[in-house]
Amino acid sequence: MELFEAIRTRRSIRKYRGDPVPRALVEQVLEAGRWAATGGNRQPWQFCVVTNAARRAELSVMGGSGRWIAQAPVCIIIFMSEAITPVQDCAAVAQNMLLAAHALGLGACWVGNPNVSFAERVRQYLGVREPLRFFAFMSLGYPDETRQPAKKPLGEMVTWES
Ligand SMILES: Cc1cc2nc3c(=O)[nH]c(=O)nc-3n(C[C@H](O)[C@H](O)[C@H](O)COP(=O)(O)O)c2cc1C
Repeated sequence: MELFEAIRTRRSIRKYRGDPVPRALVEQVLEAGRWAATGGNRQPWQFCVVTNAARRAELSVMGGSGRWIAQAPVCIIIFMSEAITPVQDCAAVAQNMLLAAHALGLGACWVGNPNVSFAERVRQYLGVREPLRFFAFMSLGYPDETRQPAKKPLGEMVTWES
């Protein structure tokens, strides 16, 4: 898929078909994350991939609004380490992953942030060691919904110098 088309047509997907996602596709999504821009090239991230249904169910009840994680065949959990700009770096990773998933015919949804109440519980549940900290969930699977959320027009957000 052409880049601008992917940017324009990507949507957060929270309903998934049951079919499993081939590991090679999950790896392509992870690979897109790996190439994200990062302050000082620190690359302060680690990815945990969960496909086990029982674990996804556990994560879904921990994960705030992300109840559908139980139905998504894959959940990638992004963890961040200490760096110059870890939050911004991991956000760039997550956006790359969302776009790559869409370009591959998959759907994805970014869930949560480092300040959610369940962040520490998720880290401990997955046995991820400090100083890594939870950044976000990324649910992944073949989409079973189409969405068209309203987007503000460019004119509302741009000022050209005069
Ligand atoms: C930092 C961040 C956190 C988000 N957390 C959640 C969340 O907890 N639950 C959820 O349903 N969607 C979450 N989303 C997805 C947004 O709701 C979604 O991006 C927004 O509604 C715009 O829709 P679109 O992605 O289809 O353009 C999050 C997105 C971002 C960028």
